[in-house]
Amino acid sequence: MSESPAGAHGLLQRYLDGLAGNGRETTSGRDGHDGRELGERGEHRERGGHPAAVAAAAAYYAALDTVAAGSPGIASAIVRELADQRHNLKLIASENFSSLAVQLAHGNLLTDKYAEGYPGHRFYAGCDNVDVIESEAAALACELFGAEHAYVQPHSGADANLVAFLSVLSARVERPLVDELGEKNLVKIAAADWQRIRAAYTGQRLLAMDYYSGGHLTHGYRYNVSSLLFDAHSYSVDRGSGLLDMDQVRARVHEVRPLILLAGYSAYPRKIDFARMREMADEVGAVLMVDMAHFAGLVAGKVFRGNYDPVPFAHVVTTTTHKTLRGPRGGLVLCKQELAEWVDKGCPTVLGGPLPHAMAAKAVALREALRPDFQRYAQRVVDNARELAAALAAEGLRVVTGGTENHLVLVDVGRLGLTGRQAESALRECRLTLNRNSLPYDPNGPWYTSGLRLGTPAATTLGMGAAEMREIAAIMRLVLGHTAPEVIAAGAKAGERSLARYTLDPAAAEQARARVGDLLGRHPVYPELDLGLMLAAPWLQAAPSVPEAEPVAGARG
Ligand SMILES: Cc1ncc(COP(=O)(O)O)c(C=O)c1O
Repeated sequence: MSESPAGAHGLLQRYLDGLAGNGRETTSGRDGHDGRELGERGEHRERGGHPAAVAAAAAYYAALDTVAAGSPGIASAIVRELADQRHNLKLIASENFSSLAVQLAHGNLLTDKYAEGYPGHRFYAGCDNVDVIESEAAALACELFGAEHAYVQPHSGADANLVAFLSVLSARVERPLVDELGEKNLVKIAAADWQRIRAAYTGQRLLAMDYYSGGHLTHGYRYNVSSLLFDAHSYSVDRGSGLLDMDQVRARVHEVRPLILLAGYSAYPRKIDFARMREMADEVGAVLMVDMAHFAGLVAGKVFRGNYDPVPFAHVVTTTTHKTLRGPRGGLVLCKQELAEWVDKGCPTVLGGPLPHAMAAKAVALREALRPDFQRYAQRVVDNARELAAALAAEGLRVVTGGTENHLVLVDVGRLGLTGRQAESALRECRLTLNRNSLPYDPNGPWYTSGLRLGTPAATTLGMGAAEMREIAAIMRLVLGHTAPEVIAAGAKAGERSLARYTLDPAAAEQARARVGDLLGRHPVYPELDLGLMLAAPWLQAAPSVPEAEPVAGARG
């Protein structure tokens, strides 16, 4: 076999040698159609695996060799991140594992392109191919979600929310005032008139779920620009049940009479009735905006249907593309036709040039989400979350709201005498990666917190099911039951319990690590990629700790 461009010692060459039987054998890939549901779909363990998996792995190695030629430190960090994710089980509710096709669509010359404007209406020449990409991504988003219009340029969920806010403000506030003046060109409006428009623009009310109830920073939190842009108000979950009481929400809607009623969350484990939300918005003439950043995959996968699908009811819907939707990092806005003209002005209102490579990767992910197996995936995400919540409760942990109806579970560790920060760190020591989270009315604030947020999207992508959820719950109980806050030894707070430091019983930790290792060995992350091959790359720079990869069950890596 001829030598690969990266040279005889490159990853690609060693991989090709392995395929040809000249050296090491490669580990195999999974079903090439989406390459991720290992457990369900079965692995291809013959030399090299499925052709699509072989091609993806070869592309990956070639890309790493190319990066390593100039920036070995960066290539090494990428490999070490894979090692980290193979070694620690991802239970972060907002993360997932995108397909290698998504990742490869993201890494190419499209990153060079400027394409301000929108398809067919650009401020740059030579955007024909970006037009194709953006149009395809938008059409796929409309098809997947049944939306009237889609805008795929936002770089992130935060950007998507800003685009949505400004489109509503432009359509509902700026436009009527500009029309009164009879001057359509904003640049020509006199300074005094412009000040009047600005005052009206920034004097509008936003009503959204508060941060401690599970709302997001971009929904009017004091430290976010949304609270400078709007006179921001909030509604909260019920103190006793942790649930949204729709009658209480309605009372707030009538009290505040917002321009925008915003529904959506990052840490609320229940479904929301968007038909009722729309009724409330209509009662006060508000625009209904839904931020489905967390649960877009459950909408796409038709688990959230009827009143729980926001798209038919909301004037505008925003989302990220990288959480349950399993695409690249990015944002997306869907809207009714009446707002389309304004949403498409995301550039220049919020954005500069779009990211054509990100839009290409979004298109690949949206097409993947249109396949029937994505619906099965989405259902399993929710089934797994329900199983996990029930198992945690059976282990004696308090699950906020008593369970879940979506992909996330909130656990109260305050009851165990721990802060979220201590629990998060102890679990990470035992190879479970998740994040601490404020609980409703949390006495420990947003930094230390009293809770943990767990999500099943990533573990479900790995092919895990009910038995693994029960094992995760048991491991969590083992770790948390053997973690205690440290007592502060000296200083003004001597004798008090530390909010950050803790002790963890070494034997329990050891057992927990072994059990997580067993789970990961049976459900490896990106098994198309041979981690052993990568860790042996001559350009791999020493890192303080490259975690040992768990042997992939039945394969090497
Ligand atoms: C509900 C919600 N909206 C918006 C965002 C922001 O997304 P991004 O991090 O892509 O800006 C998040 C991210 O956590 C989120 O949970």
